[in-house]
Amino acid sequence: MKVAVLGAAGGIGQALALLLKLNLPKGSDLALYDIAPVTPGVAVDISHIPTAVNAKGYAGEDPTPALEGADVVLISAGVARKPGMDRADLFNVNAGIIRNLVGKVAEVAPQACIGVITNPVNTTVAIAAEVLKNAGVYDKRRLFGVTTLDVIRSETFVAEAKGLEPEQVKVKVIGGHSGVTILPLLSQVEGVTFSDEEIASLTQRIQNAGTEVVEAKAGGGSATLSMAQAACRFGTSLVRALQGEQGVVECAYVEGSGEHSRFFAQPVLLGTKGVVEVQNYGALSAFEQKALDDMMETLAADIDKGVAFVNG
Ligand SMILES: NC(=O)c1ccc[n+]([C@@H]2O[C@H](COP(=O)([O-])OP(=O)(O)OC[C@H]3O[C@@H](n4cnc5c(N)ncnc54)[C@H](O)[C@@H]3O)[C@@H](O)[C@H]2O)c1
Repeated sequence: MKVAVLGAAGGIGQALALLLKLNLPKGSDLALYDIAPVTPGVAVDISHIPTAVNAKGYAGEDPTPALEGADVVLISAGVARKPGMDRADLFNVNAGIIRNLVGKVAEVAPQACIGVITNPVNTTVAIAAEVLKNAGVYDKRRLFGVTTLDVIRSETFVAEAKGLEPEQVKVKVIGGHSGVTILPLLSQVEGVTFSDEEIASLTQRIQNAGTEVVEAKAGGGSATLSMAQAACRFGTSLVRALQGEQGVVECAYVEGSGEHSRFFAQPVLLGTKGVVEVQNYGALSAFEQKALDDMMETLAADIDKGVAFVNG
């Protein structure tokens, strides 16, 4: 398997490169691309770590060599949030970057599975889909918005609140990847019960966890290390499924049946061609049903914005 990281010299990209060097299956190729000149050096740096993953780095305007033969492309290229900005503020810069990079993926590695990390994910995934569609290579089984950070945050915060082993807690997170569109299904967490107050405050903490990091970093950026771990979890799950492992399920923001909105995050069964099945997310509590109903307008508008960005 060849995994390409676009934006590999950034805060997320470098940590993700390190984690993939440590966690990809033996014999994998890892291609690092960024416009920043340091990128080949990042690859040389991690290549000194003794694992059987072959890392190469590419800098400059053209991602082609990094994309050639790629099975999985993870994109974190873009600008990150500063205090006072929300994910929508990133739109103008990041939308153009995603349009151009996904255009290159369509040309050089049209069969690759693409995981979009660059925010605002609710919209950048719609941009990616339209670019791939216009290039005649769109397959909804192979495009993902990476929402795994919401999942790992939920698992951590629930474990903290209930005194559980974080590795044992499993939480599904559905909807989208900003503010009210992030909906952790706390009513379904096995072996624990929450009061209404706990549900309300945990849900709000999970939805605003990105801001917690932005403020704590005081102008120095947004979540990078936890995001890298989340993207590594998603990327390695995808690679294992592409290689034939059965029963690999991750929550991701994908184009499903359109029951709620064209793109929607929910549990997805992964296989050798990408998405095998967008799974039912189970029964919702009244609180969750209301949160779902309330988010739909925002989510639909975020998606429309992406479609309009590409098609005018
Ligand atoms: N999905 C999530 O949960 C999540 C979480 C945190 C951050 N993010 C997003 O990830 C993105 C990256 O965050 P970061 O903290 O790593 O930012 P960063 O500024 O540290 O890194 C971004 C990198 O992208 C590179 N870049 C810019 N334009 C490029 C292009 N055209 N081609 C290749 N590389 C290019 C930059 O040189 C830089 O190295 C941001 O959009 C951020 O909002 C997503």
